[in-house]
Amino acid sequence: MNKQLIIYFSFLLLCFHYSNGATLAHSPAQAPSKHVAIAPAKAKTITPTKAPTSLPVPAVEPPSQVPLVPAPPHKALHTPTDVTKILEKAGIFSVFIRLLKSTSVSIQIENQLNVSNTLTIFAPTNGAFGALKPGTLNTLSTEDKVQLVQYHILPTLVSLQNFETLSNPVRTQASNTNDFPLNVTVEGSSVNITTGIVNATISGTVYEDNQLAIYKVDKVLLPLGIFGPKPKTKQHLAPSPTPLKPSKDTLIRLLRRRLSPLQKNPLAQTRQKGTSRTVLS
Ligand SMILES: *[C@@H]1O[C@H](CO)[C@@H](O)[C@H](O)[C@H]1NC(C)=O
Ligand SMILES: *[C@@H]1O[C@H](CO)[C@@H](O)[C@H](O)[C@H]1NC(C)=O
Ligand SMILES: *[C@@H]1O[C@H](CO)[C@@H](O)[C@H](O)[C@H]1NC(C)=O
Ligand SMILES: *[C@@H]1O[C@H](CO)[C@@H](O)[C@H](O)[C@H]1NC(C)=O
Repeated sequence: MNKQLIIYFSFLLLCFHYSNGATLAHSPAQAPSKHVAIAPAKAKTITPTKAPTSLPVPAVEPPSQVPLVPAPPHKALHTPTDVTKILEKAGIFSVFIRLLKSTSVSIQIENQLNVSNTLTIFAPTNGAFGALKPGTLNTLSTEDKVQLVQYHILPTLVSLQNFETLSNPVRTQASNTNDFPLNVTVEGSSVNITTGIVNATISGTVYEDNQLAIYKVDKVLLPLGIFGPKPKTKQHLAPSPTPLKPSKDTLIRLLRRRLSPLQKNPLAQTRQKGTSRTVLS
């Protein structure tokens, strides 16, 4: 009896299980299969379309930002201006470059540009030097050569439009305007330079930024102080720009003494010695 009951119940269970499995197998296969078949199809078509549209957007944006932002400010701010390189690139100033280097005025220019001073340079072309009488430069003393080169440099930035605002005689880097007068005349867009010996014309802009302007001139600017009828070579011995620096230093020293007389005395003394040496030399 027990065995029969067990067999019977197990048969019933099997039947029940089978029928359930059959109904379960039929019902999901028919009804949900339609829903599932449609829904995943939509979901699959929707999610891929959403995913690609959302992914390429950040992928496209970075390349468009990268090239625009970092490139220009680095170049403009941190590359020191090299005047001889600029002139070399122009290709027609090799004699002037040689003079700048042999007189060490190129180093003075570099220093002045390093401390953010502004300058205007009149660069005579090789043709301008070629038009000089033979031996004009060779007969000059090194001191006169320095003055000649410095005469071609103004201690301020002058744009082409601003030449008419200058008052004659214009100050140059040469020792003084009495021995080294330089007059500028403007007519429309043309700028002429008169030294008293030669008349020159600005024939083009070689370089211009917010610190430095270099103009091409068709003549070497021969100053009266060197090439005039009465050259005053003895007055060239006193250099004009040096007195400014010691006066600043003495002011700073006086301020330091007042601020901390006890603590910074040894420092102040060493600095006094240092400056007094430079003043004497
Ligand atoms: C000017 O500054 C540059 C770097 O900023 C330096 O290499 C160069 O020696 C400086 N020149 C002078 C003459 O001080
Ligand atoms: C500049 O010089 C040229 C000739 O060298 C002359 O024709 C012109 O009138 C001058 N311009 C001025 C403003 O002096
Ligand atoms: C330069 O200009 C000044 C003032 O106008 C004048 O006195 C002087 O004679 C001029 N010098 C030359 C060389 O043209
Ligand atoms: C320069 O120009 C002035 C007039 O602007 C003229 O008197 C003088 O002779 C000229 N000098 C030379 C060397 O051409």
